Amino acid sequence: MNKTLETTEVRKLLRRKVRICVLTGAGVSAESGIPTFRGAGGLWRKFRPQELATPEAFARDPRLVWEWYDWRRGLIAAARPNPGHEALVRLERRCPNFLLATQNVDGLHLLAGSKRVVSIHGDIWELHCTACGRSREDRAVPLPELPPTCPDCGGLLRPGVVWFGESLPPGAFAAAAAAARGAEAFLVVGTAGAVEPAASLTRLAREAGAFVVEVNLESSALSSLADVSFRGKAGEILPALVP
Ligand code: OAD
Repeated sequence: MNKTLETTEVRKLLRRKVRICVLTGAGVSAESGIPTFRGAGGLWRKFRPQELATPEAFARDPRLVWEWYDWRRGLIAAARPNPGHEALVRLERRCPNFLLATQNVDGLHLLAGSKRVVSIHGDIWELHCTACGRSREDRAVPLPELPPTCPDCGGLLRPGVVWFGESLPPGAFAAAAAAARGAEAFLVVGTAGAVEPAASLTRLAREAGAFVVEVNLESSALSSLADVSFRGKAGEILPALVP
């Protein structure tokens, strides 16, 4: 199909459908200046996930892990939502049954104004005490002490994000999976589809009969599940699909 025709068709389809689920990944925040994980310039090209994003790495060297998260918090604090995030806010406002499941921990969807969001990989602004279990939001950049300690009990705080080998926040994946299964249209944006169980949401939606639309710079592990794939920047394609 011709690209202009495809854009028009998907734009109309997104207007008609009342149950829409969206899955986003690092690509949606790339144009806000936040590095992705895989691909050119990706964080996992420079850093080893085993040394920074696992419970074992944190047990071994909490200060090193925290230095990396503190650096990322600084990048994120300086970033603003881009037209891709804003298009998803418009989509939510006109769709009665909508859920945005994001793998991003940057909070930019919420900052843009999205409300029905589940952050299936957690939130980098949340600090969780490994001793007393309390969680609190802390937006200090940089953090005054590394590694940070709990103001209530003095225990070691960890970032409120999901690490490799950990399960997702209880309820978050179940909510995303229910929305994916119930969706008439499923939009998958800026994710390589390399991490489970997030990637499986696209398959769940597809198997339940959703029309799957992919937006990505390049082909991904999920492209074969898409009814239509738009190749390009989320910050340009999403505003064309959701004007
Ligand atoms: P990746 O870095 O693996 O993939 C980013 C995807 O976005 C790639 O497929 C790129 O082609 C695409 N992309 C890059 N820039 C884009 C743009 N401007 N517009 C559209 N697409 C673009 O990121 P994720 O798939 O989100 O886990 O990674 C999944 C998880 O792996 C992350 O949540 C993180 C990481 O380890 C945790 O933190 C638990």
